[in-house]
Amino acid sequence: MRKIKTLGLLGTGVIGGGWAARALHCGIDVVAADLNPAMEEWIRGAVENASPSLDALTADVPTPAKGTLRFTTDAEEMASTADFIQESVPEDLAIKRKVYTAISATAPADVIISSSTSGFMPTEMQKGMTHPERMLVGHPFNPVYLCPLVEVVGGVQTSDDNKIAAKAFYESIGMHALMVRKEVPGHISDRLQEAMWREMLHALNDGIATTGELDESIVYGPGLRWAVMGMNQIYMIAGGKGGARHFIEQFGPALEWPWTHLKAPELNDKIIDGFVDGTTEQANGRSVRELERIRDECLVAIQRVLKKHDIASGSTLNLFEASLKSRAESNN
Ligand SMILES: NC(=O)c1ccc[n+]([C@@H]2O[C@H](COP(=O)([O-])OP(=O)(O)OC[C@H]3O[C@@H](n4cnc5c(N)ncnc54)[C@H](O)[C@@H]3O)[C@@H](O)[C@H]2O)c1
Repeated sequence: MRKIKTLGLLGTGVIGGGWAARALHCGIDVVAADLNPAMEEWIRGAVENASPSLDALTADVPTPAKGTLRFTTDAEEMASTADFIQESVPEDLAIKRKVYTAISATAPADVIISSSTSGFMPTEMQKGMTHPERMLVGHPFNPVYLCPLVEVVGGVQTSDDNKIAAKAFYESIGMHALMVRKEVPGHISDRLQEAMWREMLHALNDGIATTGELDESIVYGPGLRWAVMGMNQIYMIAGGKGGARHFIEQFGPALEWPWTHLKAPELNDKIIDGFVDGTTEQANGRSVRELERIRDECLVAIQRVLKKHDIASGSTLNLFEASLKSRAESNN
């Protein structure tokens, strides 16, 4: 596998900025390409903003000297210098296909090209590119610099070696690579999130709850548990001494009751305004930047607690710190 000294980014918005911050923190240089030159200022600000949280997350171990960030509007120049390319252009299949055709003709054959796509399948994107066996999906979660999950998905033409190499790279920058067995639209986690969001929009439309009340129904209950254990393990525990079998016998039949709508509601002004006005009211005058800071401080604190129990994202943090420590020792 090619040693990843330079990460190439294509698209430097919310997600590209998050990838840059994570890689730079691990001592990897970043070449960031975006067709909009104004994004240079934005990505530099995003990296600066993320830096204190990353330092706090890995405060217990020495970290390498930060990598350097270079910005370009020339995607092909980026593709000719990167050891691994992470694409984060807008969620539009035509745009994604077009950029793959261009950058894959320039990037050396052993450079992996990974897409941050939230829902497209790699088979749909790799058609027509040069060396499609090195194209895959590496779907992260926002903020990329603090959420360790990355869903790794291969298409029909992706080689197993490239999937394994991508996993190794993501792990080296502190991530938890979930190897998705079968490509489906929306991968795994977004399918689950969307099912819940669909139900929330129905609840809003049906006047059952406001956005604030819907969020209360998550953060004071199930959301608190989900950072520690996923829904399946939590439900097994909820079955008491009868465990998972007792739980599914007791609550399984409710799946047939009319608790959920499943089909998406038709988006109307009531839903859109309810969502926008409700979340603005919840923000209570705080800007997105302020909310981001609160979110990030809490995400760091939660992971540092989970680390003590070596569970969930705390286990990933332990592995990340061990690798940063051994890198620091080998540099001494
Ligand atoms: N926002 C999220 O929460 C989230 C989470 C996970 C994955 N994703 C995925 O990441 C990708 C990017 O999402 P985002 O939220 O960062 O979008 P964004 O709109 O914030 O950023 C997209 C960037 O791509 C640039 N761009 C557009 N066309 C380009 C081209 N041809 N070449 C180079 N740059 C180009 C734009 O100028 C912009 O800066 C999408 O595929 C999305 O589904 C988003």
